[in-house]
Order: sequence, then structure tokens, then C-alpha cells
Amino acid sequence: MERTLAILKPDCVSANKMGRVLDRIENAGFKIIGMKMVRLNAATAGKFYEVHKERPFYQDLVQFMSSDRCVALVLEKDNAVADFRKLIGATDPAEAEPGTIRREFATSKQNNIVHGSDSPENARIEIGFFFSERELVENA
Ligand code: CMP
Repeated sequence: MERTLAILKPDCVSANKMGRVLDRIENAGFKIIGMKMVRLNAATAGKFYEVHKERPFYQDLVQFMSSDRCVALVLEKDNAVADFRKLIGATDPAEAEPGTIRREFATSKQNNIVHGSDSPENARIEIGFFFSERELVENA
């Protein structure tokens, strides 16, 4: 079984789209083994997206990610990282395949509803950013 980290972003939470997005995630066969609502401050959001710090959209991204609550999720499934990226679609909702979460719910390249880890290695790092191992509940 593989794990990936997902974040329901502030646009998802504040527009009451959490239930519909979680429904899509569960129906696609992902098991939720960790779930936490967080309000990131700018420093924490900036650290999470540190890899993008030289990009022109970084400051706006940090502001957006700290503008309201997020929900961090640890998802488990065979091939979880790639399958979740497929389920959410391209970063820009206008380029995302029909039927993907971003195509259906997102409003812009920045406000794109959900984050998903881009590799198993980054998934491990990103899961550790939000969760300790004892907070992950595989056998409940
Ligand atoms: P995410 O998959 O969480 O990874 C980095 C985030 O940066 C991305 O989703 C978007 O929210 C944001 N992002 C990436 N590229 C752009 C861009 N060109 N303009 C604005 N925001 C972007």
C-alpha cells in the first residue's frame, strides 16, 4: 500500500466543498488514514511550499494558503500518489481532464481546491509535515 498527502485548500473549505471532494476521494478507493483541520500561518505555508520560493506566484500562494482553514489528509491505496494526481487533474483547472476534481470544483491555477504529493518520496516528507506516525489510523 502506498500513501500520499492531500490538502483540501482554503477555497475548498470556505466554499463548503469539503463533503463533495471527500466523497470523490472515497469513491475513488482511497482510504483516509489521517485527517486534520489546520489554519496555517504564513510562515508554515511558506515552509510547506518552500520548493516554489523563487517562483513569481509564491507570495500569493502563501497568502492564499494561510487565508482560511485547510484539511490535511493522509490517503492510502495501491499507487496512491499517481492515482490521486490523476483524480485531481492538472494544476490549472482549465487544463484538467473532464471529470477530475479540479476541473469540477477549482476556480483558478492558484485556487485549485486540493493539493496532492507529486512523488512517494515527497509524500513521506509532506505527511511528516502534518502528522506523526501515531496519528495515522490504519486499523480502526
Ligand atoms: P499545488 O499542486 O498545491 O502545488 C503548488 C501550488 O502552487 C499549486 O497547487 C497552485 O495552487 C499554485 N500554483 C502553481 N503554479 C501556479 C501559477 N502559475 N500561478 C499561480 N499559482 C500557481
